[in-house]
Amino acid sequence: MKLLLVSILFMSASTAQAASIYAGKAKAAAVCSQCHGVRATSSDAPFPPLAGRDEEYLRTALKQYRDKTRISDVMNNIAGSLTDRDINNIVNYYSRQSN
Ligand code: HEC
Repeated sequence: MKLLLVSILFMSASTAQAASIYAGKAKAAAVCSQCHGVRATSSDAPFPPLAGRDEEYLRTALKQYRDKTRISDVMNNIAGSLTDRDINNIVNYYSRQSN
């Protein structure tokens, strides 16, 4: 239910609004954390944790979601509006969170 709600919120945001949503790493982390948490989520959570993960892995994953070479309805939608700078800010932030 929460997933559905968040997805609808994302789909209703225009591309222009989405760009400003992701402007800062703190805001981006606040968006992502709705599903992924800021620190490691519990092991039975439906979303993979991002905190403390390898920076290069996260960067590659996000670019694959953006390019749709990795398919996930939710993540393709979210990563589609991220710039290289946004991605760098986000992975920089998450990879430095301890879990
Ligand atoms: C609406 C919930 C939701 C939001 C918000 C969300 N994600 Fe995701 N994310 C998912 C789901 C579901 C998956 C698993 C998709 C799959 O199977 O590939 C995922 C997977 C990922 C992965 C791959 C992890 C792995 O272990 O391979 C990364 C990286 C990621 N998300 C980053 C982000 C970032 C960065 C943001 C914020 C810009 C974000 N996500 C926002 C739901 C979400």
